[in-house]
Amino acid sequence: MPTNSIIFAETRIPHQRDYGGVVFPAVLSPAATVSLTAAVKEQKPWLDSLLHKHGAILFRGFDSLATASDFNDLVEAFGYEELPYVGGAAPRTSVVGRVFTANESPPDQKIPFHHEMAQVPKYPAKLFFFCEVEPASGGETPIVLSHVVYERMKEKYPDFVEKLEKEGLIYTRVLGEEDDPSSPIGRGWKSTFLTADKAVAEERAAKLNMKLEWTDDGVKTIMGPIPAIKHDETRQRKIWFNSMVAAYTGWEDKLNDPKKAVTFGDGTPLPDHIIYDCLKILEEESVAVPWQKTDVLLIDNLAVLHSRKPFTPPRRILASLCK
Ligand SMILES: [Fe+2]
Repeated sequence: MPTNSIIFAETRIPHQRDYGGVVFPAVLSPAATVSLTAAVKEQKPWLDSLLHKHGAILFRGFDSLATASDFNDLVEAFGYEELPYVGGAAPRTSVVGRVFTANESPPDQKIPFHHEMAQVPKYPAKLFFFCEVEPASGGETPIVLSHVVYERMKEKYPDFVEKLEKEGLIYTRVLGEEDDPSSPIGRGWKSTFLTADKAVAEERAAKLNMKLEWTDDGVKTIMGPIPAIKHDETRQRKIWFNSMVAAYTGWEDKLNDPKKAVTFGDGTPLPDHIIYDCLKILEEESVAVPWQKTDVLLIDNLAVLHSRKPFTPPRRILASLCK
């Protein structure tokens, strides 16, 4: 059996960051003419340990990946269980198998840093993104290591972080009945809960620890208090696992005022200047690699936050979520 160094070359690109000798993200390119899907099947344990060490892996230059269905086969080859997108905020369309379009919100809007579905109890452990159509310009998917954000915040705002650890956060979001593609958080309640029946929606919301308050034209969802900081058991470090900045700076549309979207767990408002400074820290520590056609980015959703920059179309990034 070929060893990983015969199949994969660990490549360096200028965008990578270096944290004490550990590059972020890891970048793998083909060292021989191989199908990435076949290579993954052979080198799964090694890839898992690489992901654990680096938090994210960019697979670049594997020309055997051309279509959404090739990408679906690749995701299957990793063997992680699929996670259905119930309770997430973004408008998405199913493409093939377990592959979806990434958030379809308008190109001129950026999507703030978040752990995928951090605000619901059953969030994905891993995310895959695939570049099917390279952006004309922009449209990167910046990533940042969550424990780095925690450490910088703790150092700069110890009292704030202590309160956050004690109280957690409450997220409030108003959903319309139908999807609103003009909003980055525009999923209506019917597609959020995959039903048109209010009683079923309530049952499904309860499973996500979400309370529903029905209004004339939609529903107010209330989550929490839920923890904002988690302990990453396998890496023995604390992580910034929340959607605080995303909600506070981004949950804005016809139905939502972002400053009311997230509060401390005791209901008190968050300090504006700290949220915006946290946003600055996220940006300072982030890595934004311009997408190239056939790129696959595998993210450990516990270790890494991601976002999206505005872009000029066309751009088609597909996604898949795993348990
Ligand atoms: Fe996301």
